[in-house]
Amino acid sequence: MKYKRHTVTAALPYANGPVHIGHLAGCYLPADIYVRYLRSKGEDVKFICGSDEHGVPITIKAKKEGITPQQVVDKYHKIMGDAFREFGISFDIYSRTSSKTHHETASEFFKTLYNKGVFEEEITEQYFDEKANQFLADRYIIGTCPKCGNENAYGDQCENCGSTLNATDLINPKSTLSGEKPVLKKTKNWFLPLDKMQPKIEAYIDSHKEWKSNVFGQCKSWLNAGLQPRAMTRDLDWGVKVPIEGADGKVLYVWFDAPIGYISATKELFKNANPADWELYWKDKETKLVHFIGKDNIVFHCIIFPAMLMAEGSYVLPENVPANEFLNLEGNKISTSRNWAVWLHEYLLEFKDKQDVLRYTLCANAPETKDNDFTWKDFQAKNNNELVAILGNFVNRTLVLTQKYYEGNVPDAAEYNKNDILLLEEMSKYPAKIAASIETYRFREALSELMNLARMGNKYLADNEPWIVIKTDAKRVQTVMNLSLQICANLTILMEPFLPFTSAKLGAMLNLNRGLRWNDATRTDLLLAGHKINDASLLFDKIEDVQMTAQVQKLADSKKMNEEDNNKTELVGAKPEITFDDFSKMDIRVGTILEAERVPKTDKLLKLKVDTGIDIRTVVSGIAAYYKPEDIVGQQVSILVNLAPRMLKGIESRGMILCSENEKGELSFVSPTKKDANNGAMIK
Ligand code: 2FM
Ligand code: ZN
Repeated sequence: MKYKRHTVTAALPYANGPVHIGHLAGCYLPADIYVRYLRSKGEDVKFICGSDEHGVPITIKAKKEGITPQQVVDKYHKIMGDAFREFGISFDIYSRTSSKTHHETASEFFKTLYNKGVFEEEITEQYFDEKANQFLADRYIIGTCPKCGNENAYGDQCENCGSTLNATDLINPKSTLSGEKPVLKKTKNWFLPLDKMQPKIEAYIDSHKEWKSNVFGQCKSWLNAGLQPRAMTRDLDWGVKVPIEGADGKVLYVWFDAPIGYISATKELFKNANPADWELYWKDKETKLVHFIGKDNIVFHCIIFPAMLMAEGSYVLPENVPANEFLNLEGNKISTSRNWAVWLHEYLLEFKDKQDVLRYTLCANAPETKDNDFTWKDFQAKNNNELVAILGNFVNRTLVLTQKYYEGNVPDAAEYNKNDILLLEEMSKYPAKIAASIETYRFREALSELMNLARMGNKYLADNEPWIVIKTDAKRVQTVMNLSLQICANLTILMEPFLPFTSAKLGAMLNLNRGLRWNDATRTDLLLAGHKINDASLLFDKIEDVQMTAQVQKLADSKKMNEEDNNKTELVGAKPEITFDDFSKMDIRVGTILEAERVPKTDKLLKLKVDTGIDIRTVVSGIAAYYKPEDIVGQQVSILVNLAPRMLKGIESRGMILCSENEKGELSFVSPTKKDANNGAMIK
């Protein structure tokens, strides 16, 4: 079927860390290549993405960094958006799920299903951490996967075998908050009855036998195991509030709200133009909806989200979900927590203006059908032996000779010989060849065809040796150079989806008309005789061994630091680590209480006058329940003297008296043990 428009999404990444090469290779790069190709074909396409800002990964990160979930997502939304932009990932919108539009859209969607009676309301027993006083959804709980025995499976998913789980399926569950064994506690939640929807979902999957075999195969194995009802709400406080009565303290399951993020982002995209147009991209039968994701997201995009869309009733269903497998790094799984990754923002600092080299390497090695490995050695080889030696070399030779022989004016092709005619025929086939691979989501194959065109150009130059023939047959050289220039022009168009920065650079050197489209690359006369090209500069330069050694060393350092960290025991309930600098910012001294009195109309506060050795100041302290004013005059205490002043009950309090707290919550002063400590003595 020929579609009128395309909605292409790339998985909304969790806003809990920067972007690495695994993300790029997994879905953002293939999605970008696909979209750039469609645009070049003149198709109507919208490319949608944004940050996934809910879910337990965010709250865990907030706890770890000692900041609020909102601060976490604000920080990483910007970092991720910048990284994507810098690598030319050409989203039409990069939105976020903490936006008002998203909260409204997800709430509405839930309410529609609720009002249609889709959900099953059930009171079930869920794990609860008594120490942390909270339910343990999804990643707040780990245990042994009942399917593969992985001891670190999460409450919603096992990353080892890819199974979706319910927390209660785990063997030996453990809270990731306190490390304690959780207890079961009753709570009400709303379930999507996937079991009852199975026949419809199965028919949908079976109508897509053309999907990639890894995707289709995973779907079939879930269906064969029998789908289970899945809770679409959680007892958590971070997320989209469940918009119905009796659901206080509950939010939508992050995998309910996140894919709706694609819809709300599309709404945002159209909000300043024709606000109703977003619907065309989601509800019109002539729209092709394609989701680019990594393999851990398959069940959510192929089964759960389509089930939600079916239940709602007015949306089109995903037409394809080209999921990639995982990219490893130097033989090991990429891991954010172990810092085993190549971070995009760091790459850019070390390889300035070399975005396309990484795009090229990741596409050439994309984990399309199986997990694949990124190594720095291969990165260097791809750059030096392919980009520099084949593509860059061909373009450079052509442009330099054109400057040298014709002062940059495209020469007229005098007469074609038999080989020229064969070349012209071959050249005009490339757009269709590359397109066929892209349209079937075989981006590695597409890229290798692109390089074949550059190889063909190189061979043509080598076979015809214009630098020798120029001495005897200037007319022949005009034809050779004209055809070589036409190949450069066609390469500019065809490389754009893969290497957008290089395409722009080459287009500028050739002084090529900017409005050219994919099908123009079937032509062999894009540069007319007499057209003036600009000066040539190298498209790529060699990467030296020393640069690679530095990268490999950086990874080795990461590994070493990790091993050291693993030897440290984890401090359950401890605050996040701080640096020595953080500590030394605090000015804590010995002081003596000179006067003490109750603060009127409070039970907790005493107003103290303290000699800190550097001044005499007023401090309001919450110790009235534990000390009588008359008992503490003359007492030596520890006081934080450089705390910003605060107004408490109308009194300016300057500093804080340090206290320890027992298990009942009672406070007592932390005082020097020797009586002769001087006021003003530093505590360090
Ligand atoms: O795996 C992830 O990073 C998820 N945040 C992907 C969500 S995709 C979509 F549903 F939003
Ligand atoms: Zn498993």
